[in-house]
Amino acid sequence: TTSVNDYLRQHIRTVSDWPAPGVQFRDITPLLQDPKVFRILIDAFVHRYMDPDMRPDVVAGLDARGFILGAVIAYELNVGFVPIRKKGKLPFTTVEETYELEYGSATVELHTDAVKPGDKVLLIDDLIATGGTMMAGKKLLEKLGATVMEGAAIVDLPELGGSKLLQDTGKLPLFTLVDFE
Ligand code: PRP
Ligand code: HPA
Repeated sequence: TTSVNDYLRQHIRTVSDWPAPGVQFRDITPLLQDPKVFRILIDAFVHRYMDPDMRPDVVAGLDARGFILGAVIAYELNVGFVPIRKKGKLPFTTVEETYELEYGSATVELHTDAVKPGDKVLLIDDLIATGGTMMAGKKLLEKLGATVMEGAAIVDLPELGGSKLLQDTGKLPLFTLVDFE
C-alpha cells in the first residue's frame, strides 16, 4: 500500500551532518512519538507476520532501535522477544560475532539460550545501511541452530548496497517500508 509507505516517509526526519559531516541521518523518532503514526508503523509489520505462513517462533531485535520495534511486534504476534546487544551488555553466556564498520569493527552478542535449534526467527532493526549489523545478527542466530526467515526494517538505504548483499550473498529475504537514496 503506497499511501502507508508515503505517510511513514513523511514522518522520518533527516538530520544533515550527523553523526559526522556529509551524513544525512534518517531519524525514526518522529514515527514513535505520534501514537497514530506509531500504530500504523507497527501494524504494517504485524499485518505481514500474522499470516500463518509468515508467523515467526521468535522475534530478535538489534541494539538499539530494533528493540523498540521488535518488542512491540513480538508482543502483538504473541511470540517471545530476544535482544541482540552490543558487546559487554548481556549477563549470561553468549555467542558473539564481529563485523566491519566504515571505521574499525563492532561486536554483537546473543544469549546462548535465546533461541532453540529449528526456531524460525524474524530479525528486526530500524534501518539497513551496509547490512553489516543485520548480517551479524543472522550469523548469531544461525550459530544457535535457528533459521532467520526474514529481516525487516523501516528504512533501507539501497545505494549503500546492504540490502542487495543481504539478499544475494546472505540469502536473507528482506521486508522494508521506506527507501532513501
Ligand atoms: C544503526 C542502525 C542499524 C545499523 C545499520 O545503528 O540502527 O542498527 O546502524 O547500519 P549497517 O547496515 O551499516 O550495519 P548504530 O550503529 O547507529 O547504533 P545504535 O542503534 O546504538 O544507535
Ligand atoms: N539512520 C539511522 N541509523 C543509521 C543511518 C541513518 O541514517 N545510517 C547508518 N545507520
